[in-house]
Amino acid sequence: MTTFANPLDLSNKVMLITGGAQGIGEATARLCAERGARVVIGDFNPRGEEVAHSITEAGGSAAFVQTDVRDDAQVAAMVDKVRTLHGRLDILVCAAGVLKGPYMQPEELPIEEFVMTIDVNIKGVFLCARHAAPLLEQSGNGVMIVVASGAGVIGPSSSLAYGASKGGANGLGMTLANHLKGRNIRVNTLAPGNIVTDMKMSVEIAGAQREGRSVNDAIAKAQQEYGVPEGVARVIAFMVSPEADYLRGVVFTR
Ligand code: NAI
Repeated sequence: MTTFANPLDLSNKVMLITGGAQGIGEATARLCAERGARVVIGDFNPRGEEVAHSITEAGGSAAFVQTDVRDDAQVAAMVDKVRTLHGRLDILVCAAGVLKGPYMQPEELPIEEFVMTIDVNIKGVFLCARHAAPLLEQSGNGVMIVVASGAGVIGPSSSLAYGASKGGANGLGMTLANHLKGRNIRVNTLAPGNIVTDMKMSVEIAGAQREGRSVNDAIAKAQQEYGVPEGVARVIAFMVSPEADYLRGVVFTR
């Protein structure tokens, strides 16, 4: 039987996390760095640089690569940067995501917004897997986490585009898990519930405005009832750790 001194320890693990500039991705980058991971944040939001800097200031290891996950060349460059910095990759977390067109009827939702949502939430995950799989395989014990959602998986979404994209991300994660298991890459999907982040709060605000409710009340209610990114980060940090090496399939959070 294998025993680990600290089963949640991520020392020496190299971890690439998309969407790490804020929200769930940021909280995950911070926590995993605290647990010893060498973190590389890929995000198109330049705030990722600040997050990486503050992790480094706190004694952790972090770098930022500005990346649009929809763009094949940029994703290739992001993974190349990981290779140059660390020479390996053990963990890939795909947390970059967008939610467009909440509460819009099909005839209201601009086609561009539908396509953009699909591009980030599905194609972005595919491109990351495409470029990272060879490095994850070399690690001998690679882990990939697809951040999907309960939306489009166990229930509907406020957004037609988002529900479609997260259902697709779930299908992609399941299929990647099967394709990559022979290469010693464990793929799991995470389906968070309602979590207080910019993405979720913009949905709450849109819903309140659309129905003529108080925006402040909607924000306060969400803050009271919903989960926080740090809670999801603890779940992801477990999922990528050696402690979770028997984990398969989809993990749901509140
Ligand atoms: P957020 O809006 O706070 O963070 C999303 C991050 O993704 C941002 O840093 C943004 O810059 C980045 N991003 C967006 N498009 C990108 C692109 N094309 N290239 C690179 N980076 C890009 O949102 P949150 O809530 O932290 O979301 C993280 C993940 O969790 C997303 O995949 C989201 O769909 C998922 N999720 C969130 C839930 C919630 O209630 N907040 C519930 C279920 C799933």
